[in-house]
Amino acid sequence: MSKSSELVRGNLLKILADNSFHSGEALGATLGISRAAISNHIKVLSSLGLDIFSVTGKGYSLAQPLSLLRANEIKAHLSTSHAIEVEVLNVIDSTNQYLKDKSGQVNNGHTCLAEAQTAGRGRHGRKWVSPYAASLYLSMHWSFAGGYSALGGLSLAVGVAIVDALNQCGVHGLQLKWPNDIYAQGKKLAGILIEVEGQIGSECQAIIGIGLNVALPKDIQEIGQPWIDLSQLSDTLIDRNVLAGKLIRELTNSLSLFENSGLEPFVKKWRNLDIYANQAIKLIVGQNTISGIGRGIDAAGAIVLETEQGLKAYHGGEISVRAI
Ligand code: ATP
Ligand code: BTN
Repeated sequence: MSKSSELVRGNLLKILADNSFHSGEALGATLGISRAAISNHIKVLSSLGLDIFSVTGKGYSLAQPLSLLRANEIKAHLSTSHAIEVEVLNVIDSTNQYLKDKSGQVNNGHTCLAEAQTAGRGRHGRKWVSPYAASLYLSMHWSFAGGYSALGGLSLAVGVAIVDALNQCGVHGLQLKWPNDIYAQGKKLAGILIEVEGQIGSECQAIIGIGLNVALPKDIQEIGQPWIDLSQLSDTLIDRNVLAGKLIRELTNSLSLFENSGLEPFVKKWRNLDIYANQAIKLIVGQNTISGIGRGIDAAGAIVLETEQGLKAYHGGEISVRAI
Protein backbone atom coordinates (compact mmCIF):
# COMPACT_ATOMS: atom_id res chain seq x y z
CA MET A 1 0.00 0.00 0.00
CA SER A 2 1.77 3.21 -1.13
CA LYS A 3 2.09 6.16 1.24
CA SER A 4 0.51 8.59 -1.24
CA SER A 5 -2.56 6.34 -1.76
CA GLU A 6 -2.84 6.10 2.02
CA LEU A 7 -2.75 9.89 2.26
CA VAL A 8 -5.41 10.33 -0.43
CA ARG A 9 -7.68 7.78 1.26
CA GLY A 10 -7.15 9.50 4.62
CA ASN A 11 -8.18 12.84 3.08
CA LEU A 12 -11.11 11.24 1.27
CA LEU A 13 -12.41 9.89 4.56
CA LYS A 14 -12.04 13.24 6.28
CA ILE A 15 -14.37 14.68 3.61
CA LEU A 16 -16.85 11.78 3.80
CA ALA A 17 -16.88 11.89 7.60
CA ASP A 18 -19.55 14.65 7.49
CA ASN A 19 -21.99 11.87 6.47
CA SER A 20 -23.46 13.76 3.49
CA PHE A 21 -23.21 12.95 -0.22
CA HIS A 22 -20.19 13.99 -2.28
CA SER A 23 -20.00 13.45 -6.02
CA GLY A 24 -17.02 11.64 -7.52
CA GLU A 25 -16.35 14.74 -9.60
CA ALA A 26 -16.29 17.12 -6.61
CA LEU A 27 -14.14 14.71 -4.58
CA GLY A 28 -11.73 14.37 -7.51
CA ALA A 29 -11.50 18.14 -7.91
CA THR A 30 -10.82 18.67 -4.19
CA LEU A 31 -8.17 15.95 -4.03
CA GLY A 32 -6.62 16.69 -7.45
CA ILE A 33 -7.32 13.24 -8.94
CA SER A 34 -9.72 11.78 -11.53
CA ARG A 35 -13.23 10.41 -10.85
CA ALA A 36 -11.96 6.96 -11.81
CA ALA A 37 -9.20 7.23 -9.19
CA ILE A 38 -11.80 8.24 -6.58
CA SER A 39 -13.86 5.19 -7.50
CA ASN A 40 -10.80 2.94 -7.03
CA HIS A 41 -10.00 4.44 -3.63
CA ILE A 42 -13.64 3.94 -2.58
CA LYS A 43 -13.35 0.26 -3.59
CA VAL A 44 -10.23 -0.15 -1.44
CA LEU A 45 -11.91 1.54 1.54
CA SER A 46 -14.96 -0.73 1.13
CA SER A 47 -12.70 -3.79 1.06
CA LEU A 48 -11.26 -2.64 4.41
CA GLY A 49 -14.72 -2.94 5.92
CA LEU A 50 -16.08 0.62 5.53
CA ASP A 51 -19.73 0.82 4.61
CA ILE A 52 -19.79 3.39 1.76
CA PHE A 53 -22.72 3.54 -0.62
CA SER A 54 -23.17 5.41 -3.86
CA VAL A 55 -26.39 6.85 -5.27
CA THR A 56 -26.61 7.80 -8.94
CA GLY A 57 -26.74 11.56 -9.32
CA LYS A 58 -25.77 12.18 -5.68
CA GLY A 59 -22.40 10.52 -5.20
CA TYR A 60 -20.83 8.73 -2.26
CA SER A 61 -21.80 8.71 1.39
CA LEU A 62 -20.85 6.76 4.49
CA ALA A 63 -23.58 4.52 5.89
CA GLN A 64 -22.67 5.55 9.46
CA PRO A 65 -21.18 8.80 10.79
CA LEU A 66 -17.45 8.35 11.16
CA SER A 67 -15.48 9.63 14.09
CA LEU A 68 -11.81 9.03 13.36
CA LEU A 69 -9.11 8.46 15.94
CA ARG A 70 -7.01 11.52 16.79
CA ALA A 71 -3.85 11.39 18.89
CA ASN A 72 -4.44 14.81 20.48
CA GLU A 73 -8.00 13.91 21.53
CA ILE A 74 -6.81 10.62 23.00
CA LYS A 75 -4.04 12.38 24.91
CA ALA A 76 -6.55 14.87 26.30
CA HIS A 77 -8.08 11.95 28.24
CA LEU A 78 -4.76 11.01 29.84
CA SER A 79 -3.83 12.88 32.99
CA THR A 80 -0.84 15.23 32.70
CA SER A 81 1.31 12.90 34.78
CA HIS A 82 1.30 10.48 31.83
CA ALA A 83 3.96 11.50 29.32
CA ILE A 84 2.88 8.75 26.97
CA GLU A 85 3.63 8.64 23.26
CA VAL A 86 0.44 7.92 21.28
CA GLU A 87 0.63 7.23 17.54
CA VAL A 88 -2.49 6.96 15.37
CA LEU A 89 -2.00 5.07 12.12
CA ASN A 90 -4.49 4.65 9.31
CA VAL A 91 -4.19 1.13 7.83
CA ILE A 92 -1.46 -1.24 9.03
CA ASP A 93 -0.86 -4.99 8.91
CA SER A 94 -0.90 -5.36 12.71
CA THR A 95 -0.34 -2.80 15.46
CA ASN A 96 1.56 -5.48 17.43
CA GLN A 97 3.88 -5.99 14.45
CA TYR A 98 4.34 -2.22 14.09
CA LEU A 99 5.57 -1.92 17.69
CA LYS A 100 7.65 -5.09 17.37
CA ASP A 101 9.48 -3.48 14.46
CA LYS A 102 10.17 -0.44 16.67
CA SER A 103 11.58 -2.55 19.50
CA GLY A 104 14.43 -0.76 21.28
CA GLN A 105 13.30 2.67 20.06
CA VAL A 106 10.26 3.20 22.29
CA ASN A 107 9.61 3.90 25.97
CA ASN A 108 7.21 2.22 28.37
CA GLY A 109 3.62 3.10 27.54
CA HIS A 110 4.35 3.93 23.89
CA THR A 111 1.03 3.16 22.20
CA CYS A 112 -0.07 2.83 18.63
CA LEU A 113 -3.61 2.56 17.33
CA ALA A 114 -4.82 1.93 13.80
CA GLU A 115 -8.13 2.51 12.02
CA ALA A 116 -7.85 -0.91 10.33
CA GLN A 117 -5.54 -3.92 10.28
CA THR A 118 -4.98 -6.09 7.22
CA ALA A 119 -3.30 -8.88 9.22
CA GLY A 120 -4.63 -8.44 12.76
CA ARG A 121 -3.73 -11.53 14.77
CA GLY A 122 -4.95 -13.40 17.80
CA ARG A 123 -3.44 -16.27 19.80
CA HIS A 124 -2.18 -19.38 18.02
CA GLY A 125 -1.82 -17.43 14.76
CA ARG A 126 -5.58 -16.93 14.46
CA LYS A 127 -6.97 -13.94 12.61
CA TRP A 128 -8.39 -10.87 14.38
CA VAL A 129 -11.08 -9.36 12.15
CA SER A 130 -10.27 -5.64 11.96
CA PRO A 131 -12.60 -3.56 9.76
CA TYR A 132 -12.05 0.17 9.30
CA ALA A 133 -12.95 2.51 12.19
CA ALA A 134 -15.15 -0.20 13.72
CA SER A 135 -13.10 -1.07 16.81
CA LEU A 136 -10.03 -0.18 18.78
CA TYR A 137 -6.86 -1.90 17.59
CA LEU A 138 -4.29 -0.83 20.15
CA SER A 139 -0.80 -1.99 21.11
CA MET A 140 1.34 -0.77 24.00
CA HIS A 141 5.02 -1.40 24.68
CA TRP A 142 6.30 -2.20 28.18
CA SER A 143 9.75 -3.44 29.27
CA PHE A 144 9.95 -5.69 32.30
CA ALA A 145 13.28 -5.63 34.14
CA GLY A 146 12.40 -8.92 35.81
CA GLY A 147 12.36 -10.76 32.46
CA TYR A 148 9.99 -13.55 31.41
CA SER A 149 9.52 -14.85 34.93
CA ALA A 150 7.96 -11.49 35.93
CA LEU A 151 5.20 -11.83 33.33
CA GLY A 152 3.04 -14.65 34.75
CA GLY A 153 -0.58 -13.53 34.76
CA LEU A 154 0.06 -10.34 32.80
CA SER A 155 -2.88 -10.94 30.43
CA LEU A 156 -5.15 -11.30 33.50
CA ALA A 157 -4.04 -7.91 34.87
CA VAL A 158 -4.60 -6.38 31.42
CA GLY A 159 -8.10 -7.92 31.28
CA VAL A 160 -8.98 -6.27 34.60
CA ALA A 161 -7.61 -2.91 33.32
CA ILE A 162 -9.81 -3.14 30.20
CA VAL A 163 -12.91 -3.89 32.27
CA ASP A 164 -12.12 -0.91 34.55
CA ALA A 165 -11.76 1.42 31.53
CA LEU A 166 -15.05 0.17 30.06
CA ASN A 167 -16.82 0.56 33.43
CA GLN A 168 -15.67 4.21 33.46
CA CYS A 169 -17.40 4.61 30.06
CA GLY A 170 -20.64 3.24 31.54
CA VAL A 171 -20.31 -0.32 30.15
CA HIS A 172 -21.08 -2.92 32.81
CA GLY A 173 -21.86 -6.63 33.05
CA LEU A 174 -18.52 -7.66 31.56
CA GLN A 175 -16.76 -10.96 32.23
CA LEU A 176 -13.27 -12.36 31.69
CA LYS A 177 -12.39 -15.68 30.10
CA TRP A 178 -9.00 -17.13 31.02
CA PRO A 179 -6.48 -16.17 29.84
CA ASN A 180 -7.11 -13.35 27.38
CA ASP A 181 -10.71 -12.56 26.49
CA ILE A 182 -13.36 -10.04 27.54
CA TYR A 183 -16.96 -11.21 27.21
CA ALA A 184 -20.39 -9.57 27.41
CA GLN A 185 -23.70 -11.45 27.28
CA GLY A 186 -21.71 -14.65 26.69
CA LYS A 187 -20.09 -13.32 23.50
CA LYS A 188 -16.58 -12.13 22.75
CA LEU A 189 -16.17 -8.34 22.99
CA ALA A 190 -12.38 -8.01 23.11
CA GLY A 191 -9.20 -10.04 23.03
CA ILE A 192 -5.67 -9.53 24.32
CA LEU A 193 -2.52 -10.73 22.56
CA ILE A 194 0.74 -10.29 24.46
CA GLU A 195 3.92 -10.92 22.52
CA VAL A 196 7.25 -10.96 24.35
CA GLU A 197 10.84 -10.59 23.16
CA GLY A 198 14.13 -10.78 25.03
CA GLN A 199 16.79 -13.13 26.35
CA ILE A 200 16.01 -15.58 29.15
CA GLY A 201 17.24 -14.10 32.43
CA SER A 202 17.35 -10.46 31.31
CA GLU A 203 14.94 -7.60 30.67
CA CYS A 204 12.18 -8.43 28.21
CA GLN A 205 9.92 -6.33 26.01
CA ALA A 206 6.22 -7.00 26.00
CA ILE A 207 3.84 -5.79 23.32
CA ILE A 208 0.34 -5.75 24.72
CA GLY A 209 -2.22 -5.84 21.91
CA ILE A 210 -5.92 -5.25 22.43
CA GLY A 211 -8.74 -5.59 19.93
CA LEU A 212 -12.04 -4.20 21.23
CA ASN A 213 -15.17 -4.24 19.09
CA VAL A 214 -16.95 -0.87 19.05
CA ALA A 215 -19.41 -0.98 16.12
CA LEU A 216 -18.65 -3.78 13.68
CA PRO A 217 -20.54 -3.97 10.37
CA LYS A 218 -23.69 -5.96 11.14
CA ASP A 219 -23.26 -8.30 8.17
CA ILE A 220 -19.73 -9.39 9.10
CA GLN A 221 -19.22 -13.05 8.19
CA GLU A 222 -15.63 -13.86 9.04
CA ILE A 223 -15.75 -14.22 12.83
CA GLY A 224 -15.93 -17.89 13.70
CA GLN A 225 -17.59 -17.54 17.13
CA PRO A 226 -20.31 -15.45 18.80
CA TRP A 227 -19.20 -11.82 19.09
CA ILE A 228 -20.59 -8.58 20.44
CA ASP A 229 -19.66 -4.91 20.19
CA LEU A 230 -20.15 -1.80 22.34
CA SER A 231 -22.97 -0.53 20.10
CA GLN A 232 -25.06 -3.46 21.38
CA LEU A 233 -24.21 -2.71 25.02
CA SER A 234 -24.81 0.99 25.27
CA ASP A 235 -27.62 3.31 24.10
CA THR A 236 -25.20 6.08 23.22
CA LEU A 237 -22.24 5.21 21.03
CA ILE A 238 -19.03 5.49 22.97
CA ASP A 239 -16.47 7.84 21.44
CA ARG A 240 -13.39 5.81 20.48
CA ASN A 241 -11.03 8.67 21.36
CA VAL A 242 -12.43 8.93 24.90
CA LEU A 243 -12.34 5.15 25.31
CA ALA A 244 -8.77 4.91 23.98
CA GLY A 245 -7.64 7.63 26.43
CA LYS A 246 -9.22 5.86 29.39
CA LEU A 247 -7.84 2.52 28.25
CA ILE A 248 -4.28 3.86 27.92
CA ARG A 249 -4.54 5.48 31.36
CA GLU A 250 -5.80 2.27 33.01
CA LEU A 251 -3.20 0.19 31.19
CA THR A 252 -0.23 2.36 32.18
CA ASN A 253 -1.42 2.45 35.81
CA SER A 254 -1.99 -1.31 35.84
CA LEU A 255 1.31 -2.16 34.16
CA SER A 256 3.24 -0.02 36.69
CA LEU A 257 1.36 -1.73 39.51
CA PHE A 258 1.95 -5.17 37.99
CA GLU A 259 5.66 -4.41 37.59
CA ASN A 260 5.97 -3.45 41.26
CA SER A 261 3.53 -5.83 42.95
CA GLY A 262 2.86 -8.63 40.47
CA LEU A 263 -0.60 -10.15 39.99
CA GLU A 264 -1.67 -9.95 43.65
CA PRO A 265 -3.57 -6.60 43.40
CA PHE A 266 -5.62 -7.97 40.47
CA VAL A 267 -6.52 -11.49 41.65
CA LYS A 268 -9.67 -10.67 43.64
CA LYS A 269 -11.13 -8.50 40.86
CA TRP A 270 -10.33 -11.14 38.24
CA ARG A 271 -12.06 -13.85 40.28
CA ASN A 272 -15.17 -11.67 40.53
CA LEU A 273 -15.26 -11.34 36.73
CA ASP A 274 -14.55 -15.00 35.92
CA ILE A 275 -17.04 -16.20 33.28
CA TYR A 276 -16.45 -19.86 34.15
CA ALA A 277 -16.44 -19.65 37.95
CA ASN A 278 -17.95 -22.89 39.26
CA GLN A 279 -18.97 -24.01 35.74
CA ALA A 280 -18.28 -27.29 33.97
CA ILE A 281 -15.43 -26.60 31.56
CA LYS A 282 -12.76 -28.35 29.55
CA LEU A 283 -9.15 -27.34 29.06
CA ILE A 284 -7.80 -28.05 25.60
CA VAL A 285 -4.05 -28.63 25.66
CA GLY A 286 -2.86 -29.63 22.18
CA GLN A 287 -4.60 -32.96 21.40
CA ASN A 288 -5.64 -33.49 25.04
CA THR A 289 -8.75 -32.39 26.85
CA ILE A 290 -9.20 -32.23 30.63
CA SER A 291 -12.70 -31.74 32.02
CA GLY A 292 -13.74 -30.47 35.42
CA ILE A 293 -15.25 -27.55 37.30
CA GLY A 294 -13.62 -24.13 36.91
CA ARG A 295 -12.41 -22.85 40.29
CA GLY A 296 -10.90 -19.56 39.20
CA ILE A 297 -7.20 -18.71 39.26
CA ASP A 298 -4.40 -19.23 41.76
CA ALA A 299 -2.05 -16.50 43.02
CA ALA A 300 0.22 -16.96 39.99
CA GLY A 301 -2.65 -16.66 37.50
CA ALA A 302 -2.86 -20.35 36.60
CA ILE A 303 -6.37 -21.69 35.93
CA VAL A 304 -7.63 -24.00 38.68
CA LEU A 305 -9.70 -27.04 37.72
CA GLU A 306 -11.49 -29.36 40.12
CA THR A 307 -11.65 -33.00 39.02
CA GLU A 308 -12.17 -36.27 40.91
CA GLN A 309 -8.48 -36.06 41.79
CA GLY A 310 -9.02 -32.71 43.53
CA LEU A 311 -7.85 -29.21 42.61
CA LYS A 312 -5.08 -28.70 40.09
CA ALA A 313 -3.62 -25.50 38.61
CA TYR A 314 -2.70 -25.36 34.92
CA HIS A 315 -0.24 -22.84 33.48
CA GLY A 316 0.70 -22.11 29.93
CA GLY A 317 -0.16 -20.08 26.86
CA GLU A 318 -1.11 -23.19 24.88
CA ILE A 319 -4.25 -23.88 26.91
CA SER A 320 -7.71 -22.93 25.62
CA VAL A 321 -10.79 -23.09 27.84
CA ARG A 322 -14.30 -23.97 26.70
CA ALA A 323 -17.64 -24.53 28.45
CA ILE A 324 -19.12 -28.03 28.33
P1 ATP B 1 -8.69 -19.14 23.17
O1 ATP B 1 -9.50 -19.65 24.31
O2 ATP B 1 -7.69 -20.12 22.67
O3 ATP B 1 -8.11 -17.79 23.42
P2 ATP B 1 -10.37 -17.96 21.05
O4 ATP B 1 -11.29 -18.65 20.11
O5 ATP B 1 -10.89 -16.80 21.80
O6 ATP B 1 -9.76 -19.06 21.99
P3 ATP B 1 -8.16 -16.38 20.16
O7 ATP B 1 -6.96 -16.81 19.41
O8 ATP B 1 -8.00 -15.84 21.55
O9 ATP B 1 -9.17 -17.59 20.17
O10 ATP B 1 -8.91 -15.26 19.33
C1 ATP B 1 -9.03 -15.34 17.94
C2 ATP B 1 -10.45 -15.81 17.58
O11 ATP B 1 -11.35 -14.75 17.93
C3 ATP B 1 -10.65 -16.04 16.10
O12 ATP B 1 -10.38 -17.36 15.75
C4 ATP B 1 -12.14 -15.69 15.91
O13 ATP B 1 -12.98 -16.80 16.20
C5 ATP B 1 -12.39 -14.66 16.99
N1 ATP B 1 -12.37 -13.28 16.45
C6 ATP B 1 -11.66 -12.76 15.44
N2 ATP B 1 -11.92 -11.47 15.26
C7 ATP B 1 -12.82 -11.14 16.21
C8 ATP B 1 -13.48 -9.95 16.54
N3 ATP B 1 -13.27 -8.80 15.91
N4 ATP B 1 -14.34 -10.01 17.58
C9 ATP B 1 -14.59 -11.16 18.26
N5 ATP B 1 -13.99 -12.31 17.99
C10 ATP B 1 -13.10 -12.31 16.97
C1 BTN C 1 -7.21 -12.88 20.86
O1 BTN C 1 -8.36 -12.86 21.29
O2 BTN C 1 -6.62 -13.91 20.51
C2 BTN C 1 -6.40 -11.63 20.85
C3 BTN C 1 -6.78 -10.65 19.78
C4 BTN C 1 -5.88 -9.44 19.83
C5 BTN C 1 -6.13 -8.49 18.70
C6 BTN C 1 -5.33 -7.24 18.85
S1 BTN C 1 -5.86 -5.96 17.73
C7 BTN C 1 -4.46 -5.00 18.17
C8 BTN C 1 -3.28 -5.97 18.25
N1 BTN C 1 -2.71 -6.17 16.94
C9 BTN C 1 -2.87 -7.44 16.52
O3 BTN C 1 -2.48 -7.89 15.43
N2 BTN C 1 -3.51 -8.16 17.47
C10 BTN C 1 -3.83 -7.36 18.63
